[in-house]
Amino acid sequence: MDNVYRSFYTKNNYITKYMVSMIAPTPSDKILEPCGGDGVFIDTMLELGQSLNIDTCDLNIEAVETLKRKYSYNEKIKIRLTDTLMDEVFDRYAENGHYDKIVGNPPYGGWQEYDRRDELKKKYNGFYVKETYSLFLLRCVSILRNKGVLSFIIPDTFLFLHNHTALRKYLLENTKIKEILIFPSKFFPGVSFGYSNLSIITVEKTHSTHDALNNTFNVIKGLKVDRDIERIGLRSNIDDLETITLTQRDVYNNEHHAFILSNDILSDIISNCETKLGDIAECVTGIYTGNNLGYMGVVDASVKNSKDYPVVPVDLIDFNCNSLQGTDEAYKYIPIIKSSSSTKYVRIGNDWLIDWSKDAIKHYNTDKKARFQNSSYYFRTGIGLPMVKSSKINATLMVNRVFDQSIVGIFPKDEKHLYFLLGFLNSDIANKLIHLINPTANNSSNYLKKLPVILTVDSDLEYITSLVKTIVETGNIDKGHDKINEYFNHLFNIE
Ligand SMILES: C[S@@+](CC[C@H](N)C(=O)[O-])C[C@H]1O[C@@H](n2cnc3c(N)ncnc32)[C@H](O)[C@@H]1O
Repeated sequence: MDNVYRSFYTKNNYITKYMVSMIAPTPSDKILEPCGGDGVFIDTMLELGQSLNIDTCDLNIEAVETLKRKYSYNEKIKIRLTDTLMDEVFDRYAENGHYDKIVGNPPYGGWQEYDRRDELKKKYNGFYVKETYSLFLLRCVSILRNKGVLSFIIPDTFLFLHNHTALRKYLLENTKIKEILIFPSKFFPGVSFGYSNLSIITVEKTHSTHDALNNTFNVIKGLKVDRDIERIGLRSNIDDLETITLTQRDVYNNEHHAFILSNDILSDIISNCETKLGDIAECVTGIYTGNNLGYMGVVDASVKNSKDYPVVPVDLIDFNCNSLQGTDEAYKYIPIIKSSSSTKYVRIGNDWLIDWSKDAIKHYNTDKKARFQNSSYYFRTGIGLPMVKSSKINATLMVNRVFDQSIVGIFPKDEKHLYFLLGFLNSDIANKLIHLINPTANNSSNYLKKLPVILTVDSDLEYITSLVKTIVETGNIDKGHDKINEYFNHLFNIE
């Protein structure tokens, strides 16, 4: 990978062939590859044996020179050194649309200089400019002519994250989605990011928002090997994969126009729920010291991911402090809830410690990098959930503790919901709903707030409260977790 240009080249025949088949190039088409790299998509198109008109460009002079050498024999391939996102020719093309087909693998994840961000913000007003791939998608759809087709391979985060709400609206109103595939990034040789999956999205431009919103399309998930992409392209049997059929209007009507990738009742629950977690609880992120190695420690060296952190002698730890002003002079550290918990309902031990001396508090309040955020929630009784989610999410009770920014603290507005919510957040159904609302690793409070909650009669509340309390008091999950799961499945009508 090249750090400056974020060039993960598409060295995977199944991927390039599928994408080229989705745009089905013909000799009369004007075709664009908007970030040519070393020309893998052009090669795949040329393998069709047709005489094709292909424009391509790249920001990287070496890539452009290589492309020029490589295709010097073919005058129908036009290569330009330019920035696809700022290019003035493309600005003109955007007025009425120009290309019949566009295919590509835009750069993603690259750091953008602040000046560059300002430039992009001006040009792509209202859109999220920190991610280049989403701007490439927007830009390239804008230069497609009516009925033109585009196929891109990009991370799947644009389907779910709030930052991409404006892009989803634009796509849902201006294109008919033909198909979306979602698969692990490791299908790309040499690429693997755990944060999200990759997707291939193919869309057809339309000038009719009415047609766009009435369009129905499939999202295909559950691909195990890259060869599955070939099967999909050949339209052979794919019953073993998960195919979700969605109507653009339904996606459009979802909060933030978010894609909810489920065929079953769960997507209706998310779309139509009356009460969400954010309505009945405050969901907030905790403290950041600005310098964790300098201000945090651990109780012993066996704590996970604690290499380089000091092990703090127990007599320096005040386990009972609940003051925002800092500890008594005799102590220096207090326990802090940080990182994921290996257990549900209650955390084992007080692994992490934070410097809570008066000087440290002053630092948290004044240092540029530190964030003494949501401090009115520190030491309150609530529920901690990890900010980066794994396949199974463990929610734990927080009592009299500070929590750090790796935790979302959930504080019910009505105390009587505390144990009920702790039970719910540890249930299988809550886990599924949280992953459907946002399948990426990001579990920030903004997404947790959207979790549907069903508040029920007091007798049920008491039933769950008593089961959860028993688990919390005994630390024994066997006593009740199955019953809690059963209860919430029943409540949400899931068998
Ligand atoms: C992810 S690589 C893909 C290359 C090729 N399409 C492939 O699939 O193998 C992205 C390419 O985009 C180019 N690039 C990055 N930013 C660009 C920009 N703003 N305008 C044009 N090209 C850009 C990089 O130099 C790189 O060659």
